[in-house]
Order: sequence, then C-alpha cells, then structure tokens
Amino acid sequence: MSENLFIPENVSKKEKYVSLLPQLKALTEGETDMIANMANISAALHAVFGWLWVGFYVVRNEELVLGPFHGPIACTRIKFGKGVCGTAWKEKKSLLVPDVEKFPGHIACSSLSVSEIVIPVFDTAGNVTAVLDVDSEHFGVLDEVDVEYLQQIVQFVS
Ligand code: SME
Repeated sequence: MSENLFIPENVSKKEKYVSLLPQLKALTEGETDMIANMANISAALHAVFGWLWVGFYVVRNEELVLGPFHGPIACTRIKFGKGVCGTAWKEKKSLLVPDVEKFPGHIACSSLSVSEIVIPVFDTAGNVTAVLDVDSEHFGVLDEVDVEYLQQIVQFVS
C-alpha cells in the first residue's frame, strides 16, 4: 500500500476523481474494517478537495452516530429522517443540497456550511449502514460530478 496519494494539480474535478478512485480502491481493498476505511477515505477526500467538512455517520439502532471525519467538531447523533443525513438514510438516496437554508430541517453543525452532499452507504442486502456527508462553505462547489464519484467511493467502505 502506498502511503501517499498522487493527484494531478490544475486539472478538472472530474480528473482528480478519476485519479483518486483507483488509489482509494487499492488503499481500502485489503482492509475489512469499515471504520478504518472510512477514516482513510475521509482523510483522502479532505486532502484532495479541501472541503470544510467530510466524514461519515454510522447507523446505530435508530440513530446516526458520528464516525471518522475531517473538519470542525460536529453533531454526534442524528435521528432517522432528520436533517440532510437522516433524510438520505430514510429515503435511501443521495442528496445534493446546493443551499442548506432551503432544505427544511437542515441541521447546522457549522454555521460556515452553505451547501452539502449526503451519500448513503449500503450493505450487500441493501440496508443503509452509514452515510457520507460533505459540507462546503462555498456555493456552487458541490455538484452532480461529486455525487457520481462519491457514490463509487462509498462502495470501498465495506
Ligand atoms: N448538516 C447535516 C448534519 C451533519 S453536519 O453537517 C457535519 C444534516 O443536516 O444532516
């Protein structure tokens, strides 16, 4: 396993994901522990894209509990169906929220966050085991390109 990521600079976001994807696959495929893989995925995504916050919430009974992340301290528990994270869990689908002020029930862990993406992580039976949450302090940074590639990246968790 390489200890460094090699990501070209001055290329498009899509090209960065294309470079990052096989490296994250290699980094995670020899590891079966979900938490270890979440930790490295969070660290890699934060290093490459410099988002305000990126990390996981793990399903524990009827709640999401804070898991590995990079960024400011965050809310530790989110109930099923609450906030963007709980809604993505309930609806079993990825949510792109360009303006968090316009998402009813958005949970503001950081007042700096203005837009957000949440991607569910599924087990082989199709149950949601966790969600990946990305927060940006800038409008227009997060888009469908991120959703497309982050959906592939979360498959490396388990
Ligand atoms: N904004 C999220 C809560 C998690 S923090 O952003 C890290 C939500 O509405 O679910």
